[in-house]
Amino acid sequence: MKVIFSRPLFAYIMGLLILVFVSGAILSQLTNEYIILGSILTVEYIILLLIMLHVYDKYMKPIKKASNTIDELVKGNYRARIHHTSSGSVAELSNKINILARNLSEFAIQEQMQEKQLSTVIDNTQSGLVLLDEKGYIHLVNRKFISMFGGVPHDYNGFLYYEVLDNEKIHQTVQQTFLYEKNVKESFTQIIEVDKKYIEIVGAPIFNERNMLKGAVLVLYDITHLKKLELMRKDFVANVSHELKTPITSIKGFAETLLDGAMNDSETLKNFLTIINDESTRLQGLIEDLLTLSRLEKDEFKLVRSTLNMNDLVDEVLPIIRQSAEQKGISLTAEVGESISLQADKERVKQVVINLLTNAISYTSEDGEVKLTVTDTEDEVQIQVSDTGIGIDQEAIPRLFERFYRVDKARSRNTGGTGLGLAIVKHIVEVHEGKVSVDSEPNNGSTFRVYLPK
Ligand SMILES: Nc1ncnc2c1ncn2[C@@H]1O[C@H](COP(=O)(O)OP(=O)(O)OP(=O)(O)O)[C@@H](O)[C@H]1O
Ligand SMILES: [Mg+2]
Repeated sequence: MKVIFSRPLFAYIMGLLILVFVSGAILSQLTNEYIILGSILTVEYIILLLIMLHVYDKYMKPIKKASNTIDELVKGNYRARIHHTSSGSVAELSNKINILARNLSEFAIQEQMQEKQLSTVIDNTQSGLVLLDEKGYIHLVNRKFISMFGGVPHDYNGFLYYEVLDNEKIHQTVQQTFLYEKNVKESFTQIIEVDKKYIEIVGAPIFNERNMLKGAVLVLYDITHLKKLELMRKDFVANVSHELKTPITSIKGFAETLLDGAMNDSETLKNFLTIINDESTRLQGLIEDLLTLSRLEKDEFKLVRSTLNMNDLVDEVLPIIRQSAEQKGISLTAEVGESISLQADKERVKQVVINLLTNAISYTSEDGEVKLTVTDTEDEVQIQVSDTGIGIDQEAIPRLFERFYRVDKARSRNTGGTGLGLAIVKHIVEVHEGKVSVDSEPNNGSTFRVYLPK
């Protein structure tokens, strides 16, 4: 019964019937003419029924539709609309509901777009990001984070951070961020695809508008590059100090011995002064090399380019080198293509050739051969220095151009080398936008090639 009466139309019809019965009961007190009474009641019933149907169609049905539409909107279906050809205040209501639905749908689209933009930004930032709620559950990890720690977002989202992140430093960062409610910074190393990476992690607390802690965001930066630079700077300072210390200690030692009385013996005096002179020359060379490197590295460094003829350059360089080659009985030959020229800084290119030839002679034993060849193509000049010397181990080749790097420290120091020559070569070639390459085999000689754009 209850179910049937809950249907409005049925309830109204029943209501009408009761009304007709009641009015029939009242009228039957006034007259005994049952035919007239019956007719009046029938007409009354029909009129009331028509009125009721009209009311139902004009008000009840649209209101029911409006209510259904609102139900759809509440469920999140912002495309729901009322299609009803009514007029008056019900039409106004339908209209307003339609406008509301349209606004909601616009808001939803905007929100979706913003969400998309935000997730694009989050996914494409070059730092790893993790969003935690106040209980420590992970709500979001971005693409960079995944590339650092592996897996897929599903492996992290919805889990407690300490269940899925096996890193003591990350745990500490989260705990301290929650404990002190301020930014916390830590760093650690992580193996990513066989490379050791330095990661800096910053934990930042998130507060709601009532200033209550609602969670934390973890930002992870890859600082490997910075760490390497820092290490290089430290190494450089240590190397420079070490290289300066050796000749200075020796100069001081010999000078002290002379002052202590050794200078009275003219033979010793001459010997020691020669050593002091040699060491000073070495010191001077080292300082000049360091200055050259630092000048080449300066941002405002400018090449003095001019048209440079390679034949002229080789003619100037060979006499400087020839003496040391002859001393070691090394045959020094040069082969330069005809009228090869390029736009370059003459003094710098000269230094490249001198450094390469000096090395070739230093690291080639007596009676060896050193050959300088200059060739060119349409847009490039190739300078090649090959020797029949001691050669270089394959694993040492990538490090040759590092400052102070020497394959065999003891042997190189005997030749007076400090390991800056090739670093200078590389710098000069790079400021000319050229390339340098090495081919070498132990005991089978080496070939250095420099390519300079014309
Ligand atoms: N032609 C070569 N044959 C064999 N080893 C070489 C040759 N050229 C360079 N090397 C190796 O590379 C190292 C670096 O060379 P680089 O010219 O930079 O330094 P260096 O010759 O030791 O010192 P300097 O600063 O006086 O040039 C050398 O110590 C040597 O071990
Ligand atoms: Mg050298």
